[in-house]
Amino acid sequence: MTLEEVFENAKQHTRTCRVCRVCNGKACAGEIPGVGGKGTGSSFIRNAEALKNVRLRMNVLIGLKKADPSADFFGHKVSLPVYAAPITGMGPQYGSDITEKEYAKRVLEGASAAGTYAFTGDGKDFSFFEDPFRLILAQNGEGIPTMKPWVKKGRDRRTDLLKEGKPIAFATDIDAAGLLFLRDADPAITNLSAEDLADLKKMLGTVPLIVKGIMTADAAKKAVEAGADGIVVSNHGGRVLDDAEGTIEVLPEIVNAVKGRCRILIDGAFRSGADVFKALALGADGVLIGRPVALAALGGNAEGVKLYFEKIRTELREAMTMCGASSVKEINTSMVCVKK
Ligand SMILES: Cc1cc2nc3c(=O)[nH]c(=O)nc-3n(C[C@H](O)[C@H](O)[C@H](O)COP(=O)(O)O)c2cc1C
Repeated sequence: MTLEEVFENAKQHTRTCRVCRVCNGKACAGEIPGVGGKGTGSSFIRNAEALKNVRLRMNVLIGLKKADPSADFFGHKVSLPVYAAPITGMGPQYGSDITEKEYAKRVLEGASAAGTYAFTGDGKDFSFFEDPFRLILAQNGEGIPTMKPWVKKGRDRRTDLLKEGKPIAFATDIDAAGLLFLRDADPAITNLSAEDLADLKKMLGTVPLIVKGIMTADAAKKAVEAGADGIVVSNHGGRVLDDAEGTIEVLPEIVNAVKGRCRILIDGAFRSGADVFKALALGADGVLIGRPVALAALGGNAEGVKLYFEKIRTELREAMTMCGASSVKEINTSMVCVKK
């Protein structure tokens, strides 16, 4: 199976996504339910366009022998610092027949086969969090369950699962506060406070806490002070606020505010190894990819996900080779330029 065949096949398994050659939010603008960005779709589109404003600076005259894209994820070696983003809504968002559990299984197994990890999602139905959580435990804890910002009752029900075992990290997507259909759910989602994060951190103990949905230096500082071990610079793929800034645009101010006190991940329209290189050069420790991974899982099961990560890894290695970085740690700001 080739990756082209995987994406071609994905067209048979989604009634909403057009499986565009370039996944940049234009064709699906405003389609929620669906896979687009909120409102005019401008935030998803801006994520993609802002990335295009970052260019790689080619520099080959340095006798580089080998470029190694492997990296560290909270003490675990990964073959590349790229992870599957949490995605929920196979039925309502993708118009697909597969269950959330089957989707999580494909992504967890595919990411693992590629030497990296998947974040899993959450939703109105408790099983959308519980099933992936148990799959992660069955896979030696190798995955990152991502809990929505529920009011306390919803959070407690989910964190109770930690009694059964520990994942390698635990995330919460605080930006899901903007998902209007979940604000009316029972329990509802809400805007978490720094105190809520500090409580969550206390309960997690040694399990790293990753806060997803950070878009300002101020929020990044609060998350760090509340005890976050990692943050994800994310606007939820443009699905929670129209006219937001692009994630790569806000990355430098966040890197500057965090000053190495926690790991910084980022997502939003990253589609190639070159895109990943840009984030690493501007100070991120890793990148999450959402929609294309979902299509790879729909069209090619775990194997499709593995092939997709391998494509990104090959491209990242090429970018490193051409810009003069033999390891991920050597990638730095001098290797890119940002066009205004
Ligand atoms: C259909 C859909 C469902 C999503 N579900 C979740 C979720 O359950 N939890 C979460 O933290 N993020 C969720 N996200 C956001 C993604 O994790 C990610 O932040 C976003 O898609 C940006 O990456 P991309 O442009 O590579 O897709 C979802 C995104 C989409 C498109």
